[in-house]
Amino acid sequence: MEIQENISLKAYNTFGVEANARYFTEVHSTEELQEVLRKWRGGRPFILGGGSNILLTGQLEGLVIKNNIRGKAITGKKGGRAWVSAGGGENWHELVLWCLDRGLGGIENLSLIPGTTGAAPIQNIGAYGCEFSEVFHQLEAVEMDTGAIHSFGKEACRFGYRDSIFKQELRGLYCITRVSLELTAANHRINTAYGDIRRTLDGQGITEPTIHDVSRAVIAIRSGKLPDPKVLGNSGSFFKNPELPPEQFRRLQQQFPDVVHYPLEDGRVKIPAGWLVEQAGWKGKRLGGAGCYEKQALVLVNYGQATGRDILALAERVQQSVEEKFGIWLETEVNVI
Ligand code: EPU
Repeated sequence: MEIQENISLKAYNTFGVEANARYFTEVHSTEELQEVLRKWRGGRPFILGGGSNILLTGQLEGLVIKNNIRGKAITGKKGGRAWVSAGGGENWHELVLWCLDRGLGGIENLSLIPGTTGAAPIQNIGAYGCEFSEVFHQLEAVEMDTGAIHSFGKEACRFGYRDSIFKQELRGLYCITRVSLELTAANHRINTAYGDIRRTLDGQGITEPTIHDVSRAVIAIRSGKLPDPKVLGNSGSFFKNPELPPEQFRRLQQQFPDVVHYPLEDGRVKIPAGWLVEQAGWKGKRLGGAGCYEKQALVLVNYGQATGRDILALAERVQQSVEEKFGIWLETEVNVI
């Protein structure tokens, strides 16, 4: 175990902002993580995954642990189902491709989402009509204060829209070391309900898509709409799509008849935050080195020289504008640290 001092995290966050970790180490196994936790005396460490859903706004004074716990395996197959276990430090998209290569389905709609497998349950990643929670089986996590290994099933994770217990009561208390998924090995449930996917497949003349076709379509859509963090720093959607109670939605629709909206099963109505931000006039705008992406207003980008505080300042201006125009306060989806 080697603990380094004053390490730049610029290469470890997809916004590409400069921030230092006072202390930094990488762990490659659960045992190594437990050893670090046993020996470290400087307060609860901060766990870093792929750095693709955080905005660093200052120096991290304690210990940052990069989760590099790897390994992927099919742990069981039965009746057309398959169970896959992966280390928390595995890259999510590589895991998706690995499963597709083995004919396993269920996560093709979640192709090309940046970040690690261990981070996927924390914010219950989702895209194109599929949520991580739908394929989740179980996870193992190490409690940072004690080093104890705990297992969490679906109920215990309390998944919600871009939410889980690890973003709420257990925020910062656990390091997710292993994730197990339940996938389909046959009779895949192809999900092309999302408009963009259907349009892309129709355009290619594909009427009976395979899981591979869906994955390729998702990759094409994402690449066309979302900036590649290697080229333009960003963390995907910066805000969550607000879900309004029916009464509030009716009032909004009276005032803005064109409002884009998606009714939810429980009666509430989801409004795309990207639409709100665009209508508030921010799409393609810049504030210093930070900006609101020209093709997707929900994505804030670093044009090169922005600091975390610059991006946060832009986010706050956007939140204020949307609140003034629509009476809706946008919640951040990205973890601001
Ligand atoms: N829209 C606009 N202007 C914009 C962007 C969007 O008017 O600049 C409107 C359009 O009407 C569009 C609708 O919003 O049809 C929905 O846009 P999009 O399909 O791009 O999806 P989104 O709601 O903006 C969500 C997720 C994305 C996920 C996509 C696809 C959240 C916060 N974001 O975005 O997730 O990839 O759906 O399923 O739920 C992420 O979490 O980082 C992320 C990228």
